[in-house]
Amino acid sequence: MPDTGTTSTVSPFSGSENPAVSVTFENLSKSFGDFAVLKDISFRVDRGEIFVLMGPSGSGKSVLLKHVVGLELPSAGRVFIDKYDASEETTREKVRLALVFQAGALFNSLTVYDNLALYPREHQLADEAGIREKVMRALQILSLENAAAKYPSELSGGMKKRVAIARALVMEPQLMLYDEPTSELDPVMSATISEIIATLKEQYHVTSIVVSHDRDLALSIADRVGILMGGQLVHLSPPAGLRDPGDPRIADFLHPQIDLKNPRFRKLES
Ligand SMILES: Nc1ncnc2c1ncn2[C@@H]1O[C@H](COP(=O)(O)OP(=O)(O)OP(=O)(O)O)[C@@H](O)[C@H]1O
Ligand SMILES: [Mg+2]
Repeated sequence: MPDTGTTSTVSPFSGSENPAVSVTFENLSKSFGDFAVLKDISFRVDRGEIFVLMGPSGSGKSVLLKHVVGLELPSAGRVFIDKYDASEETTREKVRLALVFQAGALFNSLTVYDNLALYPREHQLADEAGIREKVMRALQILSLENAAAKYPSELSGGMKKRVAIARALVMEPQLMLYDEPTSELDPVMSATISEIIATLKEQYHVTSIVVSHDRDLALSIADRVGILMGGQLVHLSPPAGLRDPGDPRIADFLHPQIDLKNPRFRKLES
């Protein structure tokens, strides 16, 4: 059942009340045609929790995240944000949530500054001076002050990713969804992103669902880790549970062995 109690903290940007939210997946199934991507998935992400979702490429991680923001609709089952059904348009008016897309999804015709200012302008969160303060603060957190006037085409892949996170921060979210936030980033910037996710939890009680292949990130900041395989949630535990997951499929996924004698590699040599 969806969660209905309340707790709240203050937003990092506006100082306003920021009630924490939970996310409940209730028997969620999703098929595209005959292809079942998600099969009867049930779990809850608690208020203020950092939940890291791992799993092989194509296992349905991005599809699952898209259900939380209403970009995909369930074939069966439901997703709730607190007591609100995630598939309903009105839910996104009641809960501030931000999805950091795998590929950034920036507006190419807008500068970095205007990409970040778009949401607060549209929602009239502040006057232009107030918006400038929020935008510059987010850019500073992600070491992007010098990129404000640049266009997305002028940025590296890792910079685009950071701009996408900065843009999400400006939305003052109660719920942050990250799709591969540290891919394409160097180790120092990856650690910075992990710190930001952890800080949002510690100081502002933001709930986070993080899709990632990054085991270090999972071990360092997750409260719990879920692993999606074959359309099912095959593992759910605090990060320590990854050390000895039991299931050999999970061990192979977490600690893949490279076999250079594999005939596939031999073919490359000849
Ligand atoms: N709109 C769609 N129509 C049809 N099939 C889709 C659609 N979106 C995703 N899929 C399929 O669903 C499966 C899961 O895709 P998804 O993008 O969720 O994988 P993923 O776990 O995020 O993988 P990766 O780690 O590579 O990002 C894939 O086989 C993909 O081709
Ligand atoms: Mg994906």
